[in-house]
Amino acid sequence: MDFIDHNHRALAAELNRAAFDLGRCAACADGVHAEARLLEALEAIGVRLRRQCHCEEQLMRAMDYPALEEHRAQHDQLLGEYADMLRQMQRGCRKGLAMQALAALKRWLSRHALREDKALAAFIHQNGGSAAVI
Ligand SMILES: [Fe+2]
Repeated sequence: MDFIDHNHRALAAELNRAAFDLGRCAACADGVHAEARLLEALEAIGVRLRRQCHCEEQLMRAMDYPALEEHRAQHDQLLGEYADMLRQMQRGCRKGLAMQALAALKRWLSRHALREDKALAAFIHQNGGSAAVI
């Protein structure tokens, strides 16, 4: 398993945990605590997302990856949407909106992993590199 796979699995697990916390947010008496945990989890997800995008971009630059600009544009779009979602959540835990945003983020990540990141991993292996070194 290379770093791309490992990070995707870790991100998916964190998104599932955040969705679980969000489910508790309005449904249990401990809603305030759940909201704080949710925001903490979302901030941690953001850190991991930025780190993953940065690592991939460094690798793409180092290997002169031909689709660098397209891949990076997708990262920029995702990080922008993520920042918007986090700002909305920080203004108030709106459950329906947050559930939709988390589901959209998971869908986006799966799609990106199956297309752009898979293509990047194949390019790395074809060119004698190892994604496991990052
Ligand atoms: Fe990527």
